[in-house]
Amino acid sequence: MTGSICGTGSYIPHYTMDNYAIADLVETSDEWIQERTGVIRRHIVKEETTVSMAAEAGRRALENAGVSAEELDLILVATISSNVILPCTACEVQRSLGAVNATCFDLGGAACTGFVLAYNTAEAYLASGVYKTVLIIGSESLSSITNWKDRGTCILFGDGAGAAVLKAEEGRRYLPVTHSEGGKGAALTCRSRNDSNGITKKNQAGDIKEEEYFIQMDGQAVFKFAVKKVPEVIQEVLELNRLEKEDIDLYILHQANKRIVEAVAKRLGEPIEKFPMNLQEYGNTSSASIPILLDELNQKGTIKPGQKLLLAGFGAGLTWAASILKPFLRKQGDGGT
Ligand code: UT7
Repeated sequence: MTGSICGTGSYIPHYTMDNYAIADLVETSDEWIQERTGVIRRHIVKEETTVSMAAEAGRRALENAGVSAEELDLILVATISSNVILPCTACEVQRSLGAVNATCFDLGGAACTGFVLAYNTAEAYLASGVYKTVLIIGSESLSSITNWKDRGTCILFGDGAGAAVLKAEEGRRYLPVTHSEGGKGAALTCRSRNDSNGITKKNQAGDIKEEEYFIQMDGQAVFKFAVKKVPEVIQEVLELNRLEKEDIDLYILHQANKRIVEAVAKRLGEPIEKFPMNLQEYGNTSSASIPILLDELNQKGTIKPGQKLLLAGFGAGLTWAASILKPFLRKQGDGGT
């Protein structure tokens, strides 16, 4: 028994900010951003929220899978930028979708590895027979935790949500590889601007002060970590499952930086055509980047029946993970594959 993706969906905010708009805020240029990251524009929430985007992406994934909200046993949302803490984002999605039979919880803090870990969690529940139908979502409003005065980070991020429906199926189970290295966590944090140690300050009456939290990153350290660890974890997951790199049809990597994706392809000795990218349009949307890309590839019909995909995420923690999957997807309006 395994858990297999049978439908995808996404929601992208309408409002866009191109690199010229960013250059109005910080000292940078369209040329620099495109050359160093590949990003051309990003979509930013206006009236949308992390919850509303998650719910809409989830609704579209259910429609694509031909699954009703009542059939869901579990809703799992990966996010680091929700507009709500309690109730959790997944419960808010449940309310919006009317998924009355689902158990709901969030997978917070795993950041850009969040969707891969959500996939692994869902797949393990499905393979063990605990649940039969699961909705996993990555949804982020990173614009709310971006320091728009820091050119080292604000050029990169964007907002959006992606989702996938998984069902328990007979078939081969591929095991994932996951890693964390908390000792290197300082390279990528989201802490109060006023408190670099991350300790919430209290005033004399003991009330917690209102603080703004921003993503802070040692870009070069994260870049080096990614180009070393992602090819390693890909090799590890291939070996664990007794597969060769040639067995993989598409590598769906977290969309952080075009140069990272290119470096991973080069280190693996795989053609860049097997590494689809959409970061030029959305920037880095953290936990949402992999499911948004999956949905785009699904809707375009790029993913063919029987193909093997390899998902790889990396980010804050530091965390990184890779999973192999064989989805059975339907294009919008298809009778199914
Ligand atoms: O999703 C989670 C994971 N996050 C990532 O994967 C991000 C990984 N890191 C990166 O993508 C890259 O490190 C950045 C895009 C953040 C930065 O690119 P870089 O090539 O590593 O730039 P750098 O920090 O090494 O800076 C190179 C130069 C410096 O100038 P000098 O010292 O050589 O004169 C910077 O001051 O570029 C300068 N610089 C900029 N110039 C124009 C840094 N940021 C900018 C900017 N515009 N936005």
